[in-house]
Amino acid sequence: MTNAVKIETVENVAVIEVSNPPVNALSQAVRAGLADCVAQANANETVQAVVICCEGRTFIAGADIREFGKPHAEPSLPAVIETIEASAKPVVASLHGTVLGGGLEVALGAHYRIAQPNTRFGLPEVTLGLLPGAGGTQRLPRVVPVKMALDMITSGRQIKVAEAQEAGLVDAVADQDDPRTAGIAYAMTLLSEGKLARPTGALPCNSAEDGLFDTARATLAKKMRGQFAPQKCVDAIENATKLPITEGLAQERAFFQDLMNGDQRSALIHAFFSERQVGKLPEIKDVSPRDIAAIGVVGGGTMGAGIAVSSLLAGLTVTLIERDQASADRATSSVSKMLEGSVKRGKLSQAAFDDILANRFAATSDYQDLANADIVVEAVFESLEVKKDVFGQLDAICKPGAILASNTSYLDVNAIAEMTKRPEDVIGLHFFSPAHVMKLLEVVVADKTSAEVVATGFAFAKKLRKVAVRSGVCDGFIGNRLLSHYRQAMDGVVIAGASPYDVDRALVNFGMAMGPFSVADLAGLDIGWATRKRLAPTRDPREMYAEFSDRLCEKDRFGRKTGRGFYIYEDGKPSADPEVLEIIAAERTDNGVKAQEISDQEIVDRYMAAMINEAARVLEEGIALRPLDVDVTLLNGYGFPRWRGGPMQYADTVGLDKILNDIKRLSQEDDFMWQPAPLLERLVAEGKTFADLNG
Ligand code: 3HC
Ligand code: NAI
Repeated sequence: MTNAVKIETVENVAVIEVSNPPVNALSQAVRAGLADCVAQANANETVQAVVICCEGRTFIAGADIREFGKPHAEPSLPAVIETIEASAKPVVASLHGTVLGGGLEVALGAHYRIAQPNTRFGLPEVTLGLLPGAGGTQRLPRVVPVKMALDMITSGRQIKVAEAQEAGLVDAVADQDDPRTAGIAYAMTLLSEGKLARPTGALPCNSAEDGLFDTARATLAKKMRGQFAPQKCVDAIENATKLPITEGLAQERAFFQDLMNGDQRSALIHAFFSERQVGKLPEIKDVSPRDIAAIGVVGGGTMGAGIAVSSLLAGLTVTLIERDQASADRATSSVSKMLEGSVKRGKLSQAAFDDILANRFAATSDYQDLANADIVVEAVFESLEVKKDVFGQLDAICKPGAILASNTSYLDVNAIAEMTKRPEDVIGLHFFSPAHVMKLLEVVVADKTSAEVVATGFAFAKKLRKVAVRSGVCDGFIGNRLLSHYRQAMDGVVIAGASPYDVDRALVNFGMAMGPFSVADLAGLDIGWATRKRLAPTRDPREMYAEFSDRLCEKDRFGRKTGRGFYIYEDGKPSADPEVLEIIAAERTDNGVKAQEISDQEIVDRYMAAMINEAARVLEEGIALRPLDVDVTLLNGYGFPRWRGGPMQYADTVGLDKILNDIKRLSQEDDFMWQPAPLLERLVAEGKTFADLNG
């Protein structure tokens, strides 16, 4: 027995309690402890029933993910669960908190399940590139309908107690007692009713409707494009309906081991831990954030309205300032439409919607209304002059201690801060469109921003349920700076011979949510045009400058919002446009370029080489603190496939020497664009990886 699991006898019930903070993960010590304690309970003649429960905030939330990829230590979880299931005395799992992954598999190995009212259940393995590997795919469809098991296992979705009880996953709901007391009382009731051990594995599997598995395979091939685990989940559940349990379990284990050894599993677990690591910064350790309840937003266009909605949905109070009352009314209407969308999707009740508009939101044109705001987020036009003017006004009006934030995409936050007498309170908070949906928030720390203000930026992100990444100041911060660079590389590919449609297709097949030219159409081609004009005076003459985007803008083709950009949009559906190809062909002719065939692999290689090379510079300059900050940025704001873990993880997976060789090869065509970043060269020379820099 270990400290992680203890056993005690209460009358005729053995109580096995797991204590492995913070989430009672199934470490080797917990596995060994559980197996030992179940054996002890079975050997003890006074014991007639067994209860498994947990101390702390949750029942077991899964296998210990930290052990993945390391040498296996006995006993294995499947063996432990078989010991539980084989107990001659009835075993009750008394559940609370989040019963996830291996935790739910332990509960399924028990014979009866009782849960606290707000317990949640799920098998999230698929989100980690795995399938439930300790019997979940075989036991769950023996307890709940196969369709429901298939849905839970392939989506990783968590269900609440009512759904679990209706489906038969829990036998009883504890209404008053704590898990330990409730478990003991329930075990005694079962004994008094003469209930015996009821091994789940001995139950017949529920039957599946015709075509269920083939439909699921086809749907998942689209929805979870490129991923292996979802298909394996389907195979394993289909096995449960066809094979004896021992064979089904053996196959499940084989699939699990295969996936465990794969790159997708390491990438997804890298993403899981990186998202938890990203907010752990020495500069804000032990620094208390300021209180934030009242939010000001300046500018109620695309971004301002989205930021207001995001804050309102998080329970905050918002005052939005526009240029005049007519614009303020337009912003109110946008906010209200977005909130209506939340009501339709069941995310917001009608009563809460009414309350927000009546009591927590106001849009005016009077800056004085921001006097009591705790934090003001500016989202006016992307012009340094306009922003400086706004910050001057905010400085004069806002209370001492209020944080003044800019949502600028590219501009210099230091220059903005200098317009105030409180540069220590100025920060960049870069949201992504649509701001009430996208998870990423770049927290842009200027030279004089105080640690308390940085900590408040992170705390604000948490309230909004966003993932915050720290960035230093540079043109475009982490994300848009990388985007400018890989987009430049893709412009080069187009001039060399590919079409924008070839580029988008190759990158979507690689796993990106959208290709760069579809992204440009969505953001609005005028945005990039304005940036190019702003940077024109400082552009290096050696830089390759593709003009086709400017030609489109000159024809008022600004993308989706004007119905034409790189694509033509009819009823929102994009299609290729021969006129775009003509514009590009004309530019090639003007420059004496003969179009070459460029393979999809070459497109991906150039895209990734450009992204990784610029990321190495961003790291070396300290704009991003660690490679994991770059990965989290691209995963949450730029549609990078999570199962590839982010560009830095991808680079480590394919090998930094391969990336460096690609860059050197491309530098023979354009040695300005393709200069290897010194950090990349150094890592290759030292045989190191980006992961080595994550600390
Ligand atoms: N193993 C190891 N550490 C874990 C863990 C796990 N399964 N789950 C969470 N942790 C750690 C986190 O890394 C974090 O550590 P830190 O404080 O050092 O950063 C700490 O526990 C708290 O986690 P969160 O910050 O995420 O806390 P929340 O309260 O927000 O969420 C949770 C709790 C819902 C349990 C969430 O952590 C979660 O979803 N965990 C993963 C659950 C999971 O995927 N389980 C399946 C594992 S795979 C498996 O079981 C295979 C089996 O089929 C064989
Ligand atoms: P937008 O043009 O949709 O909205 C800007 C709004 O600001 C307009 O409604 C305008 O009336 C208002 N405004 C202008 N001057 C003002 C002033 N002095 N006082 C009050 N209101 C004023 O622009 P969008 O797209 O919302 O962008 C806003 C900011 O957010 C820009 O800095 C942009 O770079 C940044 N951003 C934009 C993203 C996008 O995808 N659109 C993504 C991330 C950041």
